Amino acid sequence: MMRPWSPALCRRYPSEISFMREPVVPAILRTRCWSLWMFLLLVLLAAGAAAQAPNTQTSDARPLADQEPITPIPPPPPADPEKLGLGERLFGDPRLSGDGKLACMSCHDLRTNGASAGRRTAAHDGSKPPFDTLTVFNAALNFRLNWEGNFRALGAHVESSLENPTNMRTSVDEVLAKLNADPEMVKQFRAAYGRAPDRTSFLDALVTFEKSLLTPGSRFDRWLGGDVSALSVKELDGYELFKSLGCSSCHQGANVGGNLFERQGIFRPLTSAKPEIVRVPSLRNIATTSPYFHDGSTPKLDDAVRKMAAAQLDRTLSDQQVESIVAFLQTLTGNYRGVPVVGTPQ
Ligand code: HEC
Ligand code: HEC
Repeated sequence: MMRPWSPALCRRYPSEISFMREPVVPAILRTRCWSLWMFLLLVLLAAGAAAQAPNTQTSDARPLADQEPITPIPPPPPADPEKLGLGERLFGDPRLSGDGKLACMSCHDLRTNGASAGRRTAAHDGSKPPFDTLTVFNAALNFRLNWEGNFRALGAHVESSLENPTNMRTSVDEVLAKLNADPEMVKQFRAAYGRAPDRTSFLDALVTFEKSLLTPGSRFDRWLGGDVSALSVKELDGYELFKSLGCSSCHQGANVGGNLFERQGIFRPLTSAKPEIVRVPSLRNIATTSPYFHDGSTPKLDDAVRKMAAAQLDRTLSDQQVESIVAFLQTLTGNYRGVPVVGTPQ
């Protein structure tokens, strides 16, 4: 009789089995069948464990390709490297401000979050701009620019930043005069545009550079692309809440915002009363761009989420709900030139 533990494989060795019937089975043969059995058992156990593992750490839920309210950040558009390089130089050039002290980069630090540390960056005269600094990352994907959404085009926005007394306090003409007086700059403009700096080429170089400031490759976008291991169960729960509570009715599209005007508080005032209507801000890289809201009044992301739920949805969230939503929001941090976007020390 075959022993009850004999695996089917043992049947392939009738001679061994006949041995096993003997009261004294050679140890080597017994080990062989046992080891086969144990091996199978281990394989089964390992397969079982592997099948369970994703449920404890990451989610196996798949995005419904084109049914999600959020779409991935695209890679930066192709651009002429000469124009791009020139735009980048101009972005860091303090000759773009009246007193030569401020560059775009002074308030929009591309090594961190595309904005700046602290509540608001002081203008050259030490005065505080009326609004918290918006990040320049992914700004090109917003349907309108600034908190109030008062600009449609990046070029017109640059002109206004230059003329704005709380920003650069100069003008395009003044900047062009300085650039044309610099033989090196004139050379670079000739290489990129075939002519010395003029209004069109100057604005085009800066705008070309601004359009390149995209941050693809966040974990959330990898999940949207089908990588189910990119999000943990908690992060995915947070995303489900974000959708079921109704956050995604305002924060959606590639920028998770930036494509609608809304009241800053539908059920109750959010922070300072003015302006009443704002462009819904993007939540891309939101974990790195503290402080929050147009007046920079809220330093912590969990408080911002709580305030949003109350002001926009008339909901009081539990600590656990807030935690999950924050965990989801943290997956929206992307990469600029392959390097993760980071916050600035407050
Ligand atoms: C003194 C600080 C400061 C400087 C210098 C500055 N900015 Fe800004 N930037 C801001 C603030 C504050 C806002 C938000 C303004 C608002 O909402 O009205 C902003 C908004 C923006 C936005 C809109 C982002 C969005 O999501 O709508 C872009 C684009 C931008 N700046 C680009 C630039 C460029 C290009 C320069 C250089 C020409 C520049 N900024 C110089 C502070 C600054
Ligand atoms: C009715 C539209 C609407 C809904 C719904 C909504 N928001 Fe907002 N959200 C806004 C607007 C508008 C602002 C900008 C308010 C301001 O600063 O004046 C904002 C700002 C934010 C900010 C701060 C952004 C920044 O850059 O400072 C966060 C974080 C945020 N919302 C998260 C959420 C979450 C989480 C939910 C769901 C609980 C949610 N929002 C629901 C419209 C909405």
